[in-house]
Amino acid sequence: MVDNISFTDIYMDQETVDDVADVLDSGRYVKGPVLEQFESEFATASEVDHAVGVSNGTAALLLAMKAIGIGPGDEVFAPAHTYFATVSPVLELDAAPRFVDVDPDRYTMDPAQLREKIRAAEDPAAIVVTHMHGQPADMDPITDIAAEYDLPVVEDAAQAHLAEYDGQVVGSIGDVGCFSFYPTKNMTVGGDGGMITTDDPAIADEARALRNHGRNEEGKHVVLGLNYRLDEIKAAVGRHQLDALPDWSEGRQRAAGAYDERLANVDWLVTPASYDNAEHVYHHYPVQVPADERSAFRAHLDDHVVDTGIHYDRAVHEQPAVRDRVGSVDAPVAEEYCRRTVSLPMHPQLSTEEIDHVVDAIRSFEVDA
Ligand SMILES: Cc1ncc(COP(=O)(O)O)c(C=O)c1O
Repeated sequence: MVDNISFTDIYMDQETVDDVADVLDSGRYVKGPVLEQFESEFATASEVDHAVGVSNGTAALLLAMKAIGIGPGDEVFAPAHTYFATVSPVLELDAAPRFVDVDPDRYTMDPAQLREKIRAAEDPAAIVVTHMHGQPADMDPITDIAAEYDLPVVEDAAQAHLAEYDGQVVGSIGDVGCFSFYPTKNMTVGGDGGMITTDDPAIADEARALRNHGRNEEGKHVVLGLNYRLDEIKAAVGRHQLDALPDWSEGRQRAAGAYDERLANVDWLVTPASYDNAEHVYHHYPVQVPADERSAFRAHLDDHVVDTGIHYDRAVHEQPAVRDRVGSVDAPVAEEYCRRTVSLPMHPQLSTEEIDHVVDAIRSFEVDA
């Protein structure tokens, strides 16, 4: 008998707890040495020169965009299928999001449509890509287009810690990378947290100032910044999670491989694509089912003690807070995808028995022809 199969799971070991206790004992809770260590280790793992810890992934995106100079009226090209927070900072800065549809297999920004939309733009300023569900976006054509039009690239890697594209770690490919450590992510800090990665010292300095009231090294408030700091306790947790992350990514890839194999001949369901030049880290394992069967499918899995999620139930431009500000958007692939997608349980410790149980539950669902 299998217990409820949870959608995701979080792991904390005793060493993490001990290090948190040490920080508590130290009395040094912000702007301390543990954050510096975490930043340096995260920079090394991400193969960049600088990593700047911030309070969450949304702050990482906001500060990264500010640091590259995005401001009112700037056109920022973003995928139509992503989490809301890829785009809310664009709106917060009074810049203009320009939605680009996604590739129907990769579910990340479609480079051909990106090129068309940039060609038609009046004031193109930047490209934001999301490595969605842990699948790296198709960065070669995107960075070619960025170079051609001289546009900076922000990578939203909130769902893709240590994923690789052509042997390069995500967050190191564009001008600046943004990560989230929200508890359900592939690694967490035991609460909200985020990181900005870059090789550009000017972007790193600006982001460091912006997260700390706009103060520079000499203590002067040189830009208008607020408080977006990452504290010492969270950095202590993050260091251990980062250490464990390569093993956890392998665990996710193993689980995804098992799903791929067992679901290959279920002809009414589409499993995620994989590519030789990309190392997917499976933050989610989304399958596509017939849109009008999705609720019944989820209820059926729920009856079989299998948790599922939806990421996400509508494209970003269809969200009420965005819809009125952007007008009509041509992104049918993203819209359709959002109606068909269901995320299956995915975490590093998912056992073969649990995967078999999920697959048996899926196979026992009767699809109306
Ligand atoms: C793709 C993406 N971008 C940005 C964010 C925002 O991160 P946070 O929740 O840490 O602010 C998330 C996660 O929630 C995300 O999945």
